Amino acid sequence: MPHLNIAIDGPAGAGKSTVAKALARRLGILYVDTGAMYRGVAWLALKHGVAVEREDELVELLQRHPLHFERNSDGGLDIYSDGQCINAELRNPQVSALVSQLSVHPRVRGVLTEWQRSFARRHSVVMDGRDVGTVVLPDAQVKVFLTASLEERTRRRAEEFQSKGYEMSLEELRTSIVERDERDSSRDVAPLRPASDAHPIDSTGRTVEDVVREILELVERCR
Ligand code: DC
Repeated sequence: MPHLNIAIDGPAGAGKSTVAKALARRLGILYVDTGAMYRGVAWLALKHGVAVEREDELVELLQRHPLHFERNSDGGLDIYSDGQCINAELRNPQVSALVSQLSVHPRVRGVLTEWQRSFARRHSVVMDGRDVGTVVLPDAQVKVFLTASLEERTRRRAEEFQSKGYEMSLEELRTSIVERDERDSSRDVAPLRPASDAHPIDSTGRTVEDVVREILELVERCR
């Protein structure tokens, strides 16, 4: 198969990671979750007591404790810090509350963007995030901007939180999603927005399989 890069961007809870993972599995290519990398930085900041406003200290922290990635049997990447797999820690509420605050820093983004591009150079990938189609992989063959209604995104997050045993009311979840989208869309560097050549898909009320099928048709068309 020729080298293929697929970019999937969109707001929190739109179903990006579920769709991207299923798509990567169908195509037999690597799934790269860029949000998990930003979450990894937030986890490091919490662990080492670095304030998310301190860009220089965050960059230094990443130099001292770089994140490592290993391909897992699921077709995605496990994230390691100092030899410890931290996947299970990345979606906890403390990390979620901090992550979009540190995502505004251009130098932090620069480090992560390089890691992301390096995966896409070496492998065919489905990569999801906020700026994949606009900044990380502007030449991706297929770009999707995935959305869903706020109600549906809140409900999906609530199910995810429940399954992990985290306590948060629907109202708190809705507020946190709105705040995160607002911060991700309004930052100066690499804000959340569709690439001009992205294909918009609204996943409200649709199954994962149905959305994956629509993207597979786009992939077929570009071959
Ligand atoms: O996709 P996610 O919810 O795991 O992403 C967590 C945060 O990381 C998101 O609120 C903003 C940031 N992020 C980003 O700025 N750029 C990306 N490409 C991916 C995530």
